[in-house]
Amino acid sequence: MDSLSSLLFPALVIPLVLVFLLSRSSSSKKKLNLPPGPPGYPVVGNLFQVAFSGKPFFQYIRDLIPVYGRIFTLRMGTRTMIVVSSNELAYEALIEKGPIFATRPMENPTRTIFSSNKFSVNAAYYGPVWRSLRRNMVQNMLSNARIREFRKTRDLAMDRLVDRIAAEGAANGGAVWVLRNARFAVFCILLDMCFGVEMDEKTIQSVDDMMKSVLIVLDPRMDDFLPALSPFFSKQRKKVQEVRKRQIETLVPLIEKRREKWSKSGSNSNSFAYLDTLFDLKVEGRKSAPTNEELVTLCSEFLNGGTDTTATALEWAVGRLIENPTIQSRLYDEIRATVGEGKKVDEKDVERMPYLNAVVKELLRKHPPTYFALTHAATEATRLGGYDIPTEASVEFFSAGIAEDPEVWADPERFDPDRFYRGKEEADITGVTGVKMMPFGVGRRICPGLGMATVHVNLMLARMVQEFEWSEFPAGGKVDFTEKLEFTVVMKNSLRARITPRG
Ligand code: HEM
Repeated sequence: MDSLSSLLFPALVIPLVLVFLLSRSSSSKKKLNLPPGPPGYPVVGNLFQVAFSGKPFFQYIRDLIPVYGRIFTLRMGTRTMIVVSSNELAYEALIEKGPIFATRPMENPTRTIFSSNKFSVNAAYYGPVWRSLRRNMVQNMLSNARIREFRKTRDLAMDRLVDRIAAEGAANGGAVWVLRNARFAVFCILLDMCFGVEMDEKTIQSVDDMMKSVLIVLDPRMDDFLPALSPFFSKQRKKVQEVRKRQIETLVPLIEKRREKWSKSGSNSNSFAYLDTLFDLKVEGRKSAPTNEELVTLCSEFLNGGTDTTATALEWAVGRLIENPTIQSRLYDEIRATVGEGKKVDEKDVERMPYLNAVVKELLRKHPPTYFALTHAATEATRLGGYDIPTEASVEFFSAGIAEDPEVWADPERFDPDRFYRGKEEADITGVTGVKMMPFGVGRRICPGLGMATVHVNLMLARMVQEFEWSEFPAGGKVDFTEKLEFTVVMKNSLRARITPRG
């Protein structure tokens, strides 16, 4: 939302647009009992209040909770947004009324392009296309058996991560950037899983740069909420086309290279990749296999879904360990006691480390990387918490709001892994038995990468703590926990930490 605040509208045009929109919206109004919300202006609703508030979107939402409660409505131009920050209402919607709240809203034009018209797991409407794509991803890439098969890829990426951090520290008086290194490591794993090839650093960098420019153009714009303003955004629309073209040009050669290998060796190949599952994928209700452009979308989703989210978790984790040296030492002691001397921590060890698991769970409670689930919508007009939810509403679940709710958590502000140590406090991360935290969403659209992401975060954190002691940079400074919304919610001042290699 930040980028929107720099927009200025020609004084003469706005009234014309308002009149035009007023005439359209008045005819379609029905009497609905929507959740309460801040009063807005005709036509634009709360859009300008949000866009020009000077606050990140999540902060704007946080500040409204004490005023309007844990379910409220924002009118964002032509879109009705319903924001839910209650664990009980999340349970009602996503578990009890799971199938009803399992779809996605209509896309804006930019997202329509990048999702190949909703041909991806995250964007698809709840229905046959979504079922086919999700089943394929889960069964062929994200099942426990498949995750185990990619162990060598992870080991290699972990060694590379440790080497990169050690080299960066050695060259900079011990100082290293945390997010950047974690991001690179997890991106290497996902690239390998997706395309089935190890890539040199230059190719990895170019794919990464392209992916970042995609995330930037996907940022919502004012005309997404007020389509009548689209004539003022032709430059931005051109940019969208250019970035999509670049995305296709970067990924199609990688896709074609893999296709050639796949068509020669089929299932006899000694490596396996997400792409292999997609070339001749049968999607319910469609006659043909995915096109190259659709493959670009599906591969990008795989890479994007797990890269920034995981890396963000690592940045907050290291920040918290620096702030709490006792937690860091307990973790290191557990690693040493489990793994022994002179051996690298390995994912089998990770399963036997209850304190590490507690640290990671507390981390995902306190710092859910995305703060919101992806936007949901109802398949039919329904009710939630006694209010009407029309099908055209975008329903946002504010997971960070649930994590901060004092009715759900004792002392929610405190980072305290002991909550989860040795079964002291329970919180089912899948939400099936009740929602207390939902960093991966819950219900039908729960993140299918949950298992793999948990392995990645645990393993990276364990390896990073086994190899290095982490402290403030510069020495004696303090970690700044101010948040900033990018695609995920990262640290506003990207964390640079000081490492001391452990002897
Ligand atoms: C710490 C890491 C991760 C976090 C915090 C995370 C979080 C989330 C969240 C909050 C959602 C939205 C759920 C909803 O709409 O209710 C989601 C959906 C999704 N995630 Fe993840 N994710 C992570 C890692 C991954 C990984 C590793 C992958 C795959 C490689 C992945 C793939 C997806 C996909 C495809 C969806 C869409 C699911 C659907 O709409 O059916 N994510 N994730």
